[in-house]
Amino acid sequence: MKPSQPEIERAVELLRTGGVVAFPTETVYGLGADAENADAVRRVYAIKGRPPGHPVIVHVADAEQLDVWAREIPQSARTLAQRFWPGPLTFVLKRTPRASDMLTGGQDTVAVRAPSHPIAQEILRRFGGGVIAPSANRFGTVSATRAEHVAADLGSAVDLIVDGGPTTIGIESTIVDLTRDAPAILRPGAITREQLAAALGTPVRESGDSAVRVPGSLPSHYAPRARIVLADDDRQGAVLACALETSGRRFRLIGSEDVEKFARELYDRLREADREGAEAIVVVLPPPTGLGIAVRDRLMRAAGAKPNEGSVRPRE
Ligand code: TXA
Ligand code: MG
Repeated sequence: MKPSQPEIERAVELLRTGGVVAFPTETVYGLGADAENADAVRRVYAIKGRPPGHPVIVHVADAEQLDVWAREIPQSARTLAQRFWPGPLTFVLKRTPRASDMLTGGQDTVAVRAPSHPIAQEILRRFGGGVIAPSANRFGTVSATRAEHVAADLGSAVDLIVDGGPTTIGIESTIVDLTRDAPAILRPGAITREQLAAALGTPVRESGDSAVRVPGSLPSHYAPRARIVLADDDRQGAVLACALETSGRRFRLIGSEDVEKFARELYDRLREADREGAEAIVVVLPPPTGLGIAVRDRLMRAAGAKPNEGSVRPRE
């Protein structure tokens, strides 16, 4: 699907005048606003229902804009930008004064990413400045990978939804913290730790012990309404499904085939299961390699997000 030229122009005009525009990136849809317009940024937080203090990613057209938002940029950022930008990779760097507290959650760091989606690229190039674009879903729910998801979640609160069809990657960008001695992944994504390490020629740490705040790592993130039941392989998935079937529960079984297709369709399937009123979603986890690491990360969070609800384990 390709939006018309006037629609892209309208998106840019809206951004210039403080509007809020949802647009596709290669990972998920973003809820865009001028990063330097405090009112527009506030509106994005309000529309998402996102608590203040949660930092957002500043989206830019290319690596030339890095210096606008970040200072003391290490060589590692230049190398990774050269290799992976535009693409599904976000850097956390020390901020310049242009990155206000509202964007950074009051931290001295800023997250920056240049998305590769042609529509995102065109909007960013024409707009010229930085655009905040948190995932275009209500806070705490599954990200939007289709324009219809954005419409269902946020609908008329948004000034414009640019429909670019389903996104190609389907899960959010890799976030790498480059402010410390060793690069550390704060959120796994399509660009893997191995790819980053190979490009840099140095080890890259997995997330976990960082003092930086990544609210995306709260367990309540990425969760559908239905309880997620994880299976390690097809066989276990079938056993769990069978037990749910026997107990008369409404459920959905999501198998893990090709991991790229799985990631691309995951959020749509979770949303679909919710629409069907499923009580449980049995998901067969992909192996923990490559993109599978990011997919497992989101699923574990989704599965761990309902600590206070009654269990729908089979046979109870
Ligand atoms: O793929 C993506 O990154 C999508 C598309 C639309 O670009 N955007 C996205 O944005 O996932 P959002 O706001 O849903 O998630 C941004 C994540 C949050 O977990 C936030 O905590 C983290 O980035 N983040 C932002 N600024 C940060 C900072 N200065 N330090 C550490 N984490 C930061
Ligand atoms: Mg999000």
